[in-house]
Amino acid sequence: MSEWTLTYDAYEPAGEGLREALTALGNGYFVTRGAVASTPADEVHYPGTYLAGGYNRLTTQIEGRTIENEDLVNLPNWLLLRIRIDDGPWLTPDDVQILAYRHELDLRAGVATRMVHFRDAEGRTTRWFERRLVSMAEAHLAGLEVTIRAEDWSGRLTIESAIDGRVTNAGVARYRALSSRHLEPVRTDEPDADTILLQSRFRQARTEVALAARTRIYLDERPVSPPRRTVGEPDLIAHEIAIDVAEGADVLVEKVVALHTSRDVAISEAGLAARDAVAHAGRFGALLDEHALAWRHLWDDCGIELESDVDHHQLPMKIRLSIFHLLQTVSHHSIPLDSGVPARGWHGEAYRGHIFWDELFILPYLTFRIPALTRALLKYRYRRLPAARQLARESGLRGAMFPWQSGSSGREESQRLHLNPRSHRWLPDETFRQRHIGAAIAYNVWQYYEITDDHEFMYFYGAELFLEIARFWVSVATYDARLERYDIKGVMGPDEFHTAYPDAGEGGLDNNAYTNVMVAWLLVRALDVLDSLPDERRRKLCEQIGLTVEEIEQFDELSRRLKIPFHDHDIISQFEGYEHLLEFDWEGARGRYDDIQRLDRILEAEGDSVNRYKASKQADVLMLFYLFSADELRQLFERLGYPFDASTIPRNIDYYLARTSHGSTLSLMVHGWVLSRATRPGSFEMFVQTVEADLRDIQGGTTAEGIHLGAMAGSVDIVQRCYTGLEPRGGVLHFNPSLPQQIDCLRMRIRYRRQLLDVVVDRERLTITSRRFTALPITVAYRGQFREMSPGDSYSFRLIRPLPTGAICAPRRSLIDQPG
Ligand code: BGC
Repeated sequence: MSEWTLTYDAYEPAGEGLREALTALGNGYFVTRGAVASTPADEVHYPGTYLAGGYNRLTTQIEGRTIENEDLVNLPNWLLLRIRIDDGPWLTPDDVQILAYRHELDLRAGVATRMVHFRDAEGRTTRWFERRLVSMAEAHLAGLEVTIRAEDWSGRLTIESAIDGRVTNAGVARYRALSSRHLEPVRTDEPDADTILLQSRFRQARTEVALAARTRIYLDERPVSPPRRTVGEPDLIAHEIAIDVAEGADVLVEKVVALHTSRDVAISEAGLAARDAVAHAGRFGALLDEHALAWRHLWDDCGIELESDVDHHQLPMKIRLSIFHLLQTVSHHSIPLDSGVPARGWHGEAYRGHIFWDELFILPYLTFRIPALTRALLKYRYRRLPAARQLARESGLRGAMFPWQSGSSGREESQRLHLNPRSHRWLPDETFRQRHIGAAIAYNVWQYYEITDDHEFMYFYGAELFLEIARFWVSVATYDARLERYDIKGVMGPDEFHTAYPDAGEGGLDNNAYTNVMVAWLLVRALDVLDSLPDERRRKLCEQIGLTVEEIEQFDELSRRLKIPFHDHDIISQFEGYEHLLEFDWEGARGRYDDIQRLDRILEAEGDSVNRYKASKQADVLMLFYLFSADELRQLFERLGYPFDASTIPRNIDYYLARTSHGSTLSLMVHGWVLSRATRPGSFEMFVQTVEADLRDIQGGTTAEGIHLGAMAGSVDIVQRCYTGLEPRGGVLHFNPSLPQQIDCLRMRIRYRRQLLDVVVDRERLTITSRRFTALPITVAYRGQFREMSPGDSYSFRLIRPLPTGAICAPRRSLIDQPG
């Protein structure tokens, strides 16, 4: 592995699923898994392709109930390219003797290569070398180029290049009992001698998908036109091309593919668009040049460089891998789309491609880099405001109640039943009670506004979104006259282990501290949002959504009187009554089971319930220390009338850390962050574990079903915001760097209120340089030292209490400038 390359140098069928997810290629419009090209899906291989936001609904009968699920659809497989020699069988890596193997992902250029040197059953030796890309330059194009060398044989080589629409959604074993055939055939065609086209339709959503593939052959670099035979079925089309090759000859097969759908803008019809795109596309090499340039530009804006004397677990490559997959999931190509940020990338079928609160961990990185992208992703939420209002109304509430899981229309997509693979029981799924999703959306709107100062967004979209979320909470809260406090009842916090009180008939918990503090925060901010609007717009918006003066007064009232439960003196209770739960025997469980991350499943399979114990899947109370600085929390708690002493934070961290199984990859990331703020040992290890979570597949198989985008982006954000103490607050960009001992220097480029800032932090200094440009001045601050910066300015702050060891960054070329 180099700093820019992920390499596998042996073929391991058992690990293919994981590698397919990690070497997937995409561009924010679609993603194709890094599966071998020569076989359709089977027990080892799963060549999925997914369109950003490409969902379809199907129903299934389970346990006498009709369940409807909306899934991210596995599109026709465009990769299929296989060979056979003379009358032999089609060759795959699984039935040849592999002499040498190398599968690489070049993060700098966004290209995956695979070399398979093999001997077949007849003793012939062949070398297969392929390069593939999903173009970051032209969102609808992808390419696969394979060079086949007949090392010690001559004979007839048959190449089959296909588009296979027979695919189903079969990527997640747990979902296999559910309906999975989302596509129906529309037509196949051969627009010209080199090109095949397959058009399919989503069975319910009626989205049409067209894939056109142009396959050209070159023999020892000369174009040739060997005879072709068309293989056609209603949902598969292939060209079978036979060519006589001499010993030592190189046959180059170039498959250039275009994907369009009926949801694309600026086209007439998907089939026509795909066919035209492929007809006008250049050769693979030309596509590669444009694509690599697009990636180089992206790395300029989005790279983060770390320097260290020691090679810490190839950290630079791993951080780049996270950034790479994030930008493949959402990029400038996503801006015109109506898609959200999927929790698992568009890399597989886990969680059906749904959109959760994970954007809370993803958007901060993006907003400092490509703010226009965050704006587009927030508009995914804005467009679903009517659906969220409808959800609130159906529950007799006001405002907007955003669904825990969202897909195409903004209705609640959380599954009603889920399968415990340990007990094989289908169980009610209560996770939809995570109403805190609305607070996460509001938080994201405010962060975006702080970072960009985008008044237009606030004016037209953000304020309405924010205020509708705020009034939902006012309508949900109930008043406890005895305590003179407001309660929020029947919800769930981020910790998905606690769905209900032990032995309660109904799901839901009362006064989840995370939810209530978030609500208090957003109600204060709602007042700021109103203040940010010109009088006339404020009046018209209030009229339009019917927001009354009484409701606005309630914002203020609730932000002062929501109930926050405590126990053991200064421990913030995860929810009301948490202290009555049983302590869990962690040591005993660790002795009994190899892996206790999913304690909920273990206990359910044993007839017990995790609801009975002080045991959490992930950070819940501690999310507060992740999202807010100690200073902000103090203000919030004081406003709520609760004493808050920052010195109790470490006790709270210890308390919950000892009671968490980290059953979500988000958990280690949040813990790594909060421990770092408390400058405690263990934080860096947690950060490294988070960066490696998918590479090492720490959940034992889930990464093959899709990467964990929240953890990937969140770990990059630890470097970006946590280690630099970056905090946009009150129109000031605050820094408070604290590098872990293992990192000597950090360099990155961020955007803040139209200025482009190069930020360098080492053990002694924080240096901020604003690129020359025309923009208004901004204010940056380091521990109470405020500086106004105009484009072209550079400031260096000497860090207070520099750590004793480590280097000082030498003046040198900015690594961010040119990865090349
Ligand atoms: C976590 C949620 C998360 C979801 C999608 C779950 O395992 O508990 O917090 O939103 O995964 O990433």
